[in-house]
Amino acid sequence: MHFLSQARGIRGFYECTNGELPWKVEGRHKAMSKRSILVVDDDQSVRSYLSDFLTSCGYTVECAESGDQAVARLTAGYVPSVIVQDIVMPGINGIEVLENVKRINPAIPVIILSAAGQTKTVVEAMRLGAADFLVKPFEEPELELAIENVVEKQKLKEEVKTLRRQLDSYADTGDILSTNPKVLKLKEIAKHVADTDVPVLLTGESGVGKEVLARFIHTHSLRRDKPFVKVNCAALPNDLLESELFGYERGAFTGAMNDKPGKFELADKGTLLLDEIGEMTPHLQAKLLHVLQDSEYSRLGGKKTIRIDARVLASTNVNLEENVANGKFREDLYFRLNVIRVDIPPLRERREDIPVLCNYFLCRYRDRYKSTVDEISPALMDSFLRYDWPGNVRQLENAVKRYLILPDMNMNLSELKDQTGQSGAAPVVVKPKEDNMSLKDVGSRAAEQAEKELVLRVLEETSWNRKQAARRLNICYKALLNKLKRWHIDNRHSMQSAFTKPPAVKEFQPLPF
Ligand SMILES: Nc1ncnc2c1ncn2[C@@H]1O[C@H](COP(=O)(O)OP(=O)(O)OP(=O)(O)O)[C@@H](O)[C@H]1O
Ligand SMILES: [Mg+2]
Repeated sequence: MHFLSQARGIRGFYECTNGELPWKVEGRHKAMSKRSILVVDDDQSVRSYLSDFLTSCGYTVECAESGDQAVARLTAGYVPSVIVQDIVMPGINGIEVLENVKRINPAIPVIILSAAGQTKTVVEAMRLGAADFLVKPFEEPELELAIENVVEKQKLKEEVKTLRRQLDSYADTGDILSTNPKVLKLKEIAKHVADTDVPVLLTGESGVGKEVLARFIHTHSLRRDKPFVKVNCAALPNDLLESELFGYERGAFTGAMNDKPGKFELADKGTLLLDEIGEMTPHLQAKLLHVLQDSEYSRLGGKKTIRIDARVLASTNVNLEENVANGKFREDLYFRLNVIRVDIPPLRERREDIPVLCNYFLCRYRDRYKSTVDEISPALMDSFLRYDWPGNVRQLENAVKRYLILPDMNMNLSELKDQTGQSGAAPVVVKPKEDNMSLKDVGSRAAEQAEKELVLRVLEETSWNRKQAARRLNICYKALLNKLKRWHIDNRHSMQSAFTKPPAVKEFQPLPF
């Protein structure tokens, strides 16, 4: 084999440097130490040479003297980190080995060793999914680098897989993604009360995550293996809602052809979420109160008593106290449901969650929409950070989905504007000092202005406690002080003075948020 003579020259150098390869890097070899390589070659001298060389690089090496032997090892469950294989071999040739690898475990990368004049076969191998190829003669560093690259790629793939799995399990368990201290506190409260059966009233604007929190309580309770059932009290007319909640027996009313269990029964030993409880009619409020007091009821048209064993959670985006005050909601039912109250803040009051949630939605929906977008563009993120999100997390989720489908920013922004029908809070209008200001300048200026706004808002919210503000902004204290110094801001400054707008020359682009 040609490459051996050339490689042995380097080997000679390797030997005369007391075993230290000139390109060897300590840390790198340590990191590789657990990776294993399967060498497939019918030539004994090639096998033993590659085995020695790769072992000296810190890999564990196994050799197969034929394609058949390699396939048999893989079929028996051996999973090497990389396969380095020859193309021309008696019996199963390299291409057939590759096909088998892709069938048995497509995640194992294969590096092909080819000879000059085998271009067609190499192209075929790459088409079949070979990770790389080397043409003999090659030098040892080339082989080492090729292996390192595929190992690195493999590692990244594994990391992405693990992260995806974590995100999926996050979605399954209904965790609440937030870095906001208020929300984190609510999460703690929710965990504390999860194991008790006390009713919890979840309040907050539409789309803030009331259902997410309700599921979180359920998955942290002893009822987690039993059903979580949701009833939307606003979606059904009174009669239908009653039969939905309590079920009915055959013949209970015209059209009741069969017995039907209600949601209370379906949620037996689990959790029942009464969503949009504020929309329930007085008649049904009265019935619900009795049922909750007695912990039992009968299906419509039925005589059998059914005991309730469902933990009841209720959620609403209307002001129930106001409804109690003006007689629209029963006070006794309100007190029964409102044993523990969890009020989720709107997204505009926890803007630090916007990037976190964006990344989460990006990972969650990228594959579904077959998108290659791997980050929210900085300009769009700036706009997101300044927008008021009247539709809260749900609206942000939809905006990210749109961005994945229509990554063209302008299109995405106008879509979002159309969707809300409003432009949110007073937008920060970016006005360039000069007409010929570059797009990059405008971008960084807008970013800085958004950053400044967020920093100031958090400072105001923490009564200018800089340490606390730095923690909330997820930056170190010193970084915060540097920013304030750069912007000439001290706590005597009001938001207004910090936002003194530059003299307007020509309006550049009113950001649509
Ligand atoms: N903290 C969060 N982490 C991840 N996703 C979230 C979070 N909060 C909300 N969401 C997502 O936002 C959307 C709206 O959440 P949810 O349905 O819980 O809101 P809601 O307050 O019940 O809204 P509504 O009042 O309209 O019923 C859902 O798709 C949910 O998955
Ligand atoms: Mg809801």
